[in-house]
Amino acid sequence: MPAAENHPRPLRPTDVLRHEHRRLEERLAGLSEALELIGERGAENQLLDRIEETASHIDREMAVHHRKEEEGLFPVLTPYLDRHLNLDGRIADHEDLRIMSGKFRAAIAECRADDADLFAAQMLRGYGLYIVHLVLEHLLKEDQILFLVAEHCLSAEEEADIFRRFQRIDPSVSTTG
Ligand SMILES: [Fe+2]
Ligand SMILES: [Fe+2]
Repeated sequence: MPAAENHPRPLRPTDVLRHEHRRLEERLAGLSEALELIGERGAENQLLDRIEETASHIDREMAVHHRKEEEGLFPVLTPYLDRHLNLDGRIADHEDLRIMSGKFRAAIAECRADDADLFAAQMLRGYGLYIVHLVLEHLLKEDQILFLVAEHCLSAEEEADIFRRFQRIDPSVSTTG
């Protein structure tokens, strides 16, 4: 259904970002499912492939999503954020998530090196579920706090500016949904 039918107002930059959050949540749910299975069955190759593939999708989508926030939303929103809404903290969150994703890849490689190593499989499961939790928490923070500020404060001109920035980063972004 075209977004215009759902939105009495024009599409806003936060709608695009929230939509990407929902898609990330779906992928994270798939990753959790595969991680739980590896905890039960051990490091089967097929499961490791599924985990690696899902993690790659998440990494690719998050990289573009983070750029939209860091280069699109955050610079325009900064003047409205008082010091209690720690914007730098959010960019630091992104950096932390990137570092953890690298470590997660290393844990997958370790499991592949010895598929009989149940401890390595348990570690992969635990570390992966922890990262999923942190990403979900980050999305919640943005949905419930940062985006509310954006929706409350940004003018139509500023939102148009953010959309132009989004489109430079990701030409598939449409202002009409
Ligand atoms: Fe973010
Ligand atoms: Fe986000």
